[in-house]
Amino acid sequence: MKGIILAGGSATRLYPATICLNKHLLPIYNKPMIYYPLSILMLAGIRDILLISSPRDIGSFKNIFGAGERWGLKFSYAVQENPNGLAEALIIGADFMKNDSVCLILGDNVFFGHGLPALLRKTVRAMKEKGGAYVFASNVQDPERYGIVEFDPKGSAVSIKEKPKKPKSNWAVTGLYFFDSRCRDIARAIKPSGRGELEITSVNEEYLKRGALHVNPIGRGFAWFDAGTHDSFLEASKFIATIETRTGFMVGCIEEIAFANGWITRETLLAMGEALGKTDYGQYIIRAAQNEE
Ligand code: DAU
Repeated sequence: MKGIILAGGSATRLYPATICLNKHLLPIYNKPMIYYPLSILMLAGIRDILLISSPRDIGSFKNIFGAGERWGLKFSYAVQENPNGLAEALIIGADFMKNDSVCLILGDNVFFGHGLPALLRKTVRAMKEKGGAYVFASNVQDPERYGIVEFDPKGSAVSIKEKPKKPKSNWAVTGLYFFDSRCRDIARAIKPSGRGELEITSVNEEYLKRGALHVNPIGRGFAWFDAGTHDSFLEASKFIATIETRTGFMVGCIEEIAFANGWITRETLLAMGEALGKTDYGQYIIRAAQNEE
């Protein structure tokens, strides 16, 4: 399975913070926002990753991640000329995906929860066995802001609508999508919505129509943030700070995950920590490298 991170857009809602800086490079607490969705792909066991961003910002991501080999990853890059909608990622990424399935994650989505790595790996297995589309739904208080899924009494999804004026539920579809290889043709066939975007919700609707959309509600044990406003940025930062301080474990530490996955050696991990010097992040990596199993 391949991975795509969508990290483009103009983030005008965050001006002036994003006038000349890509939103996904701003920090959520102590690390760039992009580390969090990247860590989700890594926890799912995905190493072959396409990063899509705007013409202005793609170079910044290349500077950070290069070819990805430092983390045992393989990074490719593509440009989205204009923010034409999330589903365009599947069209831009079509050659990269070839006939493989894909996990698409939005660059501004932060997930945390007990059992998340197991859930991700279970979803990858289900996708390999059955195909289709797998998405996750989280309970929200402001359903007008999201793609909203309606369930029947048995818990099966019956409809999915983007930013509904009259939401049929409070279950928002999160920005983490697993699709089989049909998604490329589905994305190519959809039409722009009323707001002029190729909506990922239209792709999900098509899978639903084909009886191939699996919606997994993530419950109380999970926290999900879509950090698109100043308040949600602050909220996510405060959450990560609290979790990290209380547990002593970092969320979204890509070096630690690469090591845990067996993609880099202990020596490499140690060198990466030392290169980051006396920062808390660097010291944390050094401790992880020195921890004997
Ligand atoms: O976060 C979950 C929600 O994400 C879903 O519930 C919605 O169904 C989905 O449409 C999306 O809604 P948003 O309004 O949050 O999407 P937004 O326009 O904020 O874009 C999400 C991320 O994708 C953001 O990091 C910017 C990036 N982006 C967005 C567009 C439209 C791109 O890179 N290119 C684009 O064309």
